[in-house]
Amino acid sequence: MGDLLPYGRQSVVEDDVAAVAAVLRGDWLTTGPAVTRFEADLAEWTGGVPTVAVTSGTAALHVAYAAAGIGPGDEVVCSPMTFVATAATAMQRGASVVFADVAPDTANLAVDAVRAAVTPRTKVVAAVDYAGHPAPLDELSALAHDAGALLLEDAAHSIGGSWHGRPIGSLADLTTFSFFPTKNLTTAEGGAVAAADPALLARAREFRNHGLVRDPERHRFPDEGGWHQEVHELGLNYRLPDVLCALGSSQLRRLSWFVSRRAELHARYTAGLSDVDGLATPVRLPGAEPAWHLYPLRVLAGRRRELYEHLRANGIGVQVNYIPVYWHPVFADLGYRRGLCPNAELFYGQELSLPLFPDLAESDVDRVVDLVRAFLR
Ligand SMILES: Cc1ncc(COP(=O)(O)O)c(C=O)c1O
Repeated sequence: MGDLLPYGRQSVVEDDVAAVAAVLRGDWLTTGPAVTRFEADLAEWTGGVPTVAVTSGTAALHVAYAAAGIGPGDEVVCSPMTFVATAATAMQRGASVVFADVAPDTANLAVDAVRAAVTPRTKVVAAVDYAGHPAPLDELSALAHDAGALLLEDAAHSIGGSWHGRPIGSLADLTTFSFFPTKNLTTAEGGAVAAADPALLARAREFRNHGLVRDPERHRFPDEGGWHQEVHELGLNYRLPDVLCALGSSQLRRLSWFVSRRAELHARYTAGLSDVDGLATPVRLPGAEPAWHLYPLRVLAGRRRELYEHLRANGIGVQVNYIPVYWHPVFADLGYRRGLCPNAELFYGQELSLPLFPDLAESDVDRVVDLVRAFLR
């Protein structure tokens, strides 16, 4: 499989290498000036909403749920068309997850399904910008707030995108990012939380660092001395080190290009495939400026598995994103049943992610398009 064309890949250049090497030669390896700089650089992409850098997209979700104060007895309404972490981290907090179905075209949370799923115990609505296309964030935000809940946006796919002219990161109460190598920018492993509300932001910062409270004004034992810091609520160590934050800041300088290059390649796939019977190409809703992380082709007439195998046999590293979260055995063991979200299940049965990353060549896109067309002819 040495020659498999991957479905996603990082784009790292000599400037990135130099930025990391410079930190390695300095005094700070972990929490130093590169963290502060990366958080400020990220905020330029979130419309000025402050951010907290953490060790992964999963950590970002866990931190966001902790900042929202969820725990046992609380419900989180969640999209099933996502990586398991969006739901799992809420459950790690002891909350119950209620899955609401998605829209059949975008695979993003359907507003009506969320409305039906909300109860007086709902504390967070967790939307996912599937493939980089923004969820219906205004409606979801209004719905969540009417129910006394917060909107969390898992933007692992969508940093650099916007919704009705407003950047991703400025639309939900809590937005989470992932910087895994296949994502829109990378820090190797890494993630971040964005929150405009200073109280949510402060809780996120504390949870990232064991829950340690440094501000003497808030100490319950103010007489301890200058060394003193204390824990009021438990946290974890989710600190993203300076070494990786330097890579992140360097990558952010190319994020505009990453987003536009992905959009170009995405458009090339659509131009090559939209007239083929038996396929549905991704839709883009009015007002959405997606940061296309995936190219989610839909293969109709039950032929997805066959096409998957055909492309893999021809060296194309296609993937399927995602099995509905509640199909994982751990959820089945808790009593979640198939049939819960029919649109998500249908989408899963048809979806095939074609290779998409900034350094992908036009000739690679054309090769994939030719293979798909020949297969369906
Ligand atoms: C939608 C979504 N949420 C969360 C995550 C978790 O991010 P990470 O792999 O950085 O922990 C991912 C990445 O796999 C993802 O695609």
